[in-house]
Amino acid sequence: MTRDQDRPAPRPGVLDIAPYVPGRSHAPGGAKLYKLSSNETPWGPSPAAVAAYKQAGDALSLYPDGSALALRRAIAAGYGLNPDRIVCGAGSDELLKLIAEAYIGPGDDAVISQFGFLVYPIAVKAAGGDAVVAPETDYTADVDAMLALVGPRTRVVFLANPNNPTGTYLPFREVRRLHAALPSRVLLVLDAAYAEYVRRNDYESGIELAGSAPNVVMTRTFSKIYGLAGLRIGWCYGPAEVIDALNRIRGPFNVSSPAIAAGVAALHDRAHVDRSIAHNDEWRDTLTHDIAALGLKVTPSVGNFVLIHFPDGRGRGAPDADAFLLQRGLVLRRVDAYGLPNALRMTIGSAEANRATVAALRDFLAVRQ
Ligand SMILES: Cc1ncc(COP(=O)(O)O)c(C=O)c1O
Repeated sequence: MTRDQDRPAPRPGVLDIAPYVPGRSHAPGGAKLYKLSSNETPWGPSPAAVAAYKQAGDALSLYPDGSALALRRAIAAGYGLNPDRIVCGAGSDELLKLIAEAYIGPGDDAVISQFGFLVYPIAVKAAGGDAVVAPETDYTADVDAMLALVGPRTRVVFLANPNNPTGTYLPFREVRRLHAALPSRVLLVLDAAYAEYVRRNDYESGIELAGSAPNVVMTRTFSKIYGLAGLRIGWCYGPAEVIDALNRIRGPFNVSSPAIAAGVAALHDRAHVDRSIAHNDEWRDTLTHDIAALGLKVTPSVGNFVLIHFPDGRGRGAPDADAFLLQRGLVLRRVDAYGLPNALRMTIGSAEANRATVAALRDFLAVRQ
């Protein structure tokens, strides 16, 4: 007979991790589905990226280039970077995990922000460390609160800029202030997954800092503006020593050949990216205005999504709104796991999806008066 203690047991702490719950992809019944739950682009990928992906299908028996050189070169050319200081990953999620694995161990901690992206605490705990959480001000990371938690055990500070799910950002002078006050042994991770959507003069993604400081890296993704979430492509830019450490622990073929091919083609289609930015600019303003006009609070966003706050009260809260919207095929994102049980996150979708959501929210509120 097998006794419980004879079974394989994960390392202490692993079972304390709350699994990441992805956005839903389904609505009940036959309603036309609008998936606005995972910050995917309504424009899809560049047709050139899809063509390159299909063409790569002819050589699937071969391993990909383990260093993803073609993709690193295309990224480097597009952003003016040194390809040797880039490492690609299966989504930026993988890179965030690799960073935690390389720099955090039992007894170490990482500082994260109250409503920061949930992959950070998962990555930190999976590496055996502790995530210490700094309170935010107005749903925005607070540099002083983060610095107050930096101690002798701190190895990494994670900052999503802009942040998901709040959509808020830190002006770059604040990021510099955070960096300037960190001990040089602490690695600052600037997660700029939504950088392409930001239209603020005081914003920078972190390219310059990650290029010059020995303790700063920036992570980026092809999942959002490039519309390649299904392929899983992310990249990290930073000091040669950090890139070297990540290269040592990553899987030797962590980015597939179709992903490499599609990523390269996507980078070359600037017009596609510009169209997505223009659409997002227009609808971010319109949605923020129209939803606020219904009497709901919307956190000002610089990303491709908005956080909508609902009043407390039975029948009128975010879970009720979510159920109502779902009946119309509108799948938004519950953010209870972020400690925001009375909010829903809405990805900026097609014009049709956006209009349908505003109309549904209007009807929801009218019924609940
Ligand atoms: C802030 C932030 N960082 C990173 C990611 C991960 O993106 P991916 O792993 O698809 O590159 C996301 C995805 O939602 C995100 O919101």
